[in-house]
Amino acid sequence: MDQIIVTGNGELSGEIPIAGAKNACLTLMPATLLSEEPLTLTNAPRLSDIKTMTELLQSLGAEVTSLQGGQVLALSSHDLSNHVAEYDIVRKMRASNLVLGPMLARLGHAVVSLPGGCAIGARPMDLHIRGLEALGAEIELRDGYLHAKAPQGLKGATVEFSFASVGATENVLMAATLAKGTTVLKNAAREPEIVDLATCLRKMGARIEGDGTSQITIEGVDRLSGATHPVVADRIELGTYMLAPAIAGGEVECLGGRLDLVGAFVEKLDAAGIGVEETGRGLKVARRNGRIRAVDVTTEPFPGFPTDLQAQMMALLCTADGTSVLEEKIFENRFMHAPELMRMGAQIDVHGGTATVTGVDRLRGAPVMATDLRASVSLILAGLAAEGETVLSRVYHLDRGYEHLVRKLEGVGARIERVKGQ
Ligand code: UD1
Repeated sequence: MDQIIVTGNGELSGEIPIAGAKNACLTLMPATLLSEEPLTLTNAPRLSDIKTMTELLQSLGAEVTSLQGGQVLALSSHDLSNHVAEYDIVRKMRASNLVLGPMLARLGHAVVSLPGGCAIGARPMDLHIRGLEALGAEIELRDGYLHAKAPQGLKGATVEFSFASVGATENVLMAATLAKGTTVLKNAAREPEIVDLATCLRKMGARIEGDGTSQITIEGVDRLSGATHPVVADRIELGTYMLAPAIAGGEVECLGGRLDLVGAFVEKLDAAGIGVEETGRGLKVARRNGRIRAVDVTTEPFPGFPTDLQAQMMALLCTADGTSVLEEKIFENRFMHAPELMRMGAQIDVHGGTATVTGVDRLRGAPVMATDLRASVSLILAGLAAEGETVLSRVYHLDRGYEHLVRKLEGVGARIERVKGQ
């Protein structure tokens, strides 16, 4: 298997282009199932998770064509020949469950495998199921598969989520676009990916208001049309690359970055002593002198600090002056990067959902590996400023969420290479 070798090499400088958001694209793609007409997505990221979603949609009878080297996805669900999302594909990626709502709304029935265990916690689907049941769906679990049907079609209803789940909001929002009457989603997730999905659905003819707030109202329509839509910038990729100069020193401009996508994160960078400036082309991040300050971080649903940047932020705080407390409130078991960072000399104490990080002067390179996407990239970031060589195994996690990672970091002066495995 491939490995990535990073050697701490001093300050970084230059530009990094930010791609379209993985998580937005993974919810926009299944929206094709809602309409007989073509959906074209531009600014799509080139990632293995997008290939997995492509494979899943094709298995359902949708046509997915990748154009312009993968930056444009042409999708068409004119004829859907199959309504079963098989375990073999779903188990690879939890976002596969986003085909459930659209298939049910369009066809009146759907069979979708439960995703199963995942490295960052149990991640059940109860909120998706309860939301769709409120719209009149009958859902049964048999042989590891959710069997869903809506013999009389879906009907608008009020759905109040007990937690503002991103995936459950997306699934029920998509289903409600074709339900009869009005659906009101209360305690809905407010993530930018939800706003991007609602914007695309409106282009397809859906009637949606309130996305970006915790109450979304959907007026069902009989059918949706085609549309062309650019995928919003990836706020997690953005935050990750903003941390590169914050950790290694120097100045990097993240092209396409927007402050409104990373507000809570930028507040923490500021508290740590890292400067962020809007340039008109993106966000410029600079670290010039001395050690950064310790800061406490609690992950929360948007607009709070994102759980998907917690591991990368921890890598920064490992060398801060003082003690930082990181609290993980979204997923249990999301500190698997901590023992790996400790192999590089970090001082971290994990108790349940809290990690206490006592800053050290410098990390030292080491062989490391990680069990999820964001944990993996946090080790690369740590390696940028560590003394000597950091060798990361299980690189395939990174391919799920960071396009051209090595090339982008090399472009700002990092010493990083990917070595082919046997
Ligand atoms: C999405 C993102 C993921 C991000 C997460 C939180 C995609 C493809 N993935 O995941 O990268 O980390 O949002 O910002 O967009 N929960 C339940 N029951 C449910 C659904 C969720 O208990 O039916 C719980 C989960 O176990 C977790 C919390 O709710 O503790 C958040 O999950 P959710 O917001 O649904 O995250 P995902 O949509 O899975």
